Amino acid sequence: MSIIFHERSREFHLFNDSVSYIIKILPNDQLGQLYFGKRIHDREDFGHLLEFANRPMTAILQDYGFSLEHVRQEYPAYGTTDFRLPALEILQEDGSRLTNFAYESHRIFGGKPGLSGLPATYVQEDEEADTLEVTLRDKLLDMRLVLLYTIFNKEGAIARSARFENHGRKPVQITRAMSLSLDLPDCDYQWIQFSGAWSRERQVKTRRLEQGIQAVSSQRGHSSHNHNPFIVLKRPEADEFSGEVMGFSLVYSGNFLAQAEVDTYNVTRVMLGINPFAFSWKLEQGETFQTPEAVMAYSSAGLNAMSQTFHRLYRSRLARGVWRDKARPVLLNNWEATYFDFDEDKLVEIARAAKEDGVELFVLDDGWFGSRSSDSSGLGDWYANRDRLPGGIKGLSEKIEALGMKFGLWVELEMVNPDSDLYRQHPDWAIQTPGRMPSQGRNQLVLDFARNEVVDHIYDRIEEILAESKVSYIKWDMNRSITECYSQAFPADRQGEIFHRYILGVYSLYERLIERFPQILFESCASGGARFDAGMLYYAPQCWTSDDSDAVERIKIQYGTSFGYPVVSMGAHVSAVPNHQLCRNTPLETRGNVACFGAFGYELDLKKLSDEERRIVRQQIAFVKEYRQVLQFGTFYRLQSPFEHNIAAWMAVSEDKRTAVAGYYKILNDVNCEFRRLRLSGLDPDLKYDVEGMDNWFYGDELMSAGLVTTDASAGQAVPGQFCTDFWSKLYVLKARGE
Ligand code: DGJ
Repeated sequence: MSIIFHERSREFHLFNDSVSYIIKILPNDQLGQLYFGKRIHDREDFGHLLEFANRPMTAILQDYGFSLEHVRQEYPAYGTTDFRLPALEILQEDGSRLTNFAYESHRIFGGKPGLSGLPATYVQEDEEADTLEVTLRDKLLDMRLVLLYTIFNKEGAIARSARFENHGRKPVQITRAMSLSLDLPDCDYQWIQFSGAWSRERQVKTRRLEQGIQAVSSQRGHSSHNHNPFIVLKRPEADEFSGEVMGFSLVYSGNFLAQAEVDTYNVTRVMLGINPFAFSWKLEQGETFQTPEAVMAYSSAGLNAMSQTFHRLYRSRLARGVWRDKARPVLLNNWEATYFDFDEDKLVEIARAAKEDGVELFVLDDGWFGSRSSDSSGLGDWYANRDRLPGGIKGLSEKIEALGMKFGLWVELEMVNPDSDLYRQHPDWAIQTPGRMPSQGRNQLVLDFARNEVVDHIYDRIEEILAESKVSYIKWDMNRSITECYSQAFPADRQGEIFHRYILGVYSLYERLIERFPQILFESCASGGARFDAGMLYYAPQCWTSDDSDAVERIKIQYGTSFGYPVVSMGAHVSAVPNHQLCRNTPLETRGNVACFGAFGYELDLKKLSDEERRIVRQQIAFVKEYRQVLQFGTFYRLQSPFEHNIAAWMAVSEDKRTAVAGYYKILNDVNCEFRRLRLSGLDPDLKYDVEGMDNWFYGDELMSAGLVTTDASAGQAVPGQFCTDFWSKLYVLKARGE
């Protein structure tokens, strides 16, 4: 058992080979935090790690003679003697917001319970993890707070969540309920966030923690392009390969807050959970409220090791279903090939060419339904447009399958155009505030997924199409943020619940569709990567990473995304040049060399390419098919950051370390430059590796310590067609010799 309770000292120690997490029941029966970090020996009493000081000006809890202001806590409340921002806040009928949740009982058990209606990591065998459930009780309110901690036996990761139960007779309003709160004893950290905007998601931003509050959040109803519900704290000297690092990831797709508050004594309080802004949840007697899950990972071996923990965990114990462990089909999506300008014949011809080159899945994007010939109408009317598709989705999907390919379909189920039959029939089904002008985004409104009847209607419509057609893949899009958030189906004192209820509605629709169509591969999408979060990965094992398909921009976007999410989860396509977002021309090889570190595909009309380009495409597809197991499921290492260098590099290594592929990307060409080497990672030091295209072989230790020589053969002189382009890249394929 990797969770021990020491009765005398009243301490819980959760540990495995790599991490320890220690909690103490404080003198006032609330929970204190003693340690999170590298695994340390267990002992009966860690009480010395709980330091008190009688400082002037300190507010003392009368009965206990100590102050919460100076105590590191597990799930702190505001208003008694702690003046920092709290993990919870409950507004009561008399106007008070004070609470006192004190230890009542606990349970330790093998395995990990699911969270009803919410995405969460899971185990397949009870032996994979142990769970501590601590129940705290506020006597005055007759409320319970149940804190869940699961430690994965083979990962340096702990999953946490909190559940509120109201047993009292009076209703309360929960106005703050974080998933995770962690008080760390010092603040000698750099904070890393993954921020950006549409088409430049998850850029790596690093800064020193300072006294005060640093935070990222979303108030948009989805996790957003702007900030990601994932943050990292690292020691200043830590890098990709060494040093102490902690990652905090929220398994949630709605409004979130990720925050670190450093107090005047340099204690760092990390918080992660539903954004308390614009949130409240009314809890009547007998009702419970479950927070989403947060996962925290610790690494003493740098950022790559932390990311690899998230990659393994999210790939195999968050993602689910038949596609979880399967290499992903090479797809071709028609969006950038046709936009809204297509009919069945055109699509079939595009698919036929794709089939010739080895594409396995043809995806029909936006524009196939209702009156949808532009983005100004038709959303919500989930009937195939018979002018464009005379045989409907059924007919088209059969034609695609007859070509020997699988068929995939785009949907945007959460939205409605005002110019649609659905909106004309049910205007109250859109989220909007009575008496206020509804704002539009991309000419559309958001459907009120807080209402079961709306979700039921959409389920019925899409179920009918999927049931009669041969659909193997769904791209589930979502193209605007929520404004004027209000549901006409809920009373005034429940309007603070709508953002969260909306996302619960999205999850429930996903769950029903996954259950009904377990063979379908789902890819989530939100104007590119506006909902690339761990919550979505529970339903859709891959996500369209960004609408920006330019290879150079994608290096940064995929690099940033890889900190918290597995390579296989990143939808990555080769698109046409000049690129549709930036008008940049990049070599076709580089577009392929970037996209192959992801769920690979094309987003163009292959018929429009030259014979030579088609030859390259065929080569790329054959390469991906041969190496996708390593590329998508191998251990991924970031080697050189595009945020810091002109040359970026990363690599993937097979589980047995016998095969590896390194991607090497030179953004701008340079002349008469230095000799170059790339230090590889994750290889077996004792194995001899052949590097494709090189005559020599190399020991793994040499490649990792001395490095692979990557010097341009031209040594900086322009040799047309060789090394003299900007945006040049190369894949190094390594294979071990012998058995
Ligand atoms: C936004 C997506 O990110 C694109 O890939 C495409 O599907 C469009 N929506 C279609 O409207």
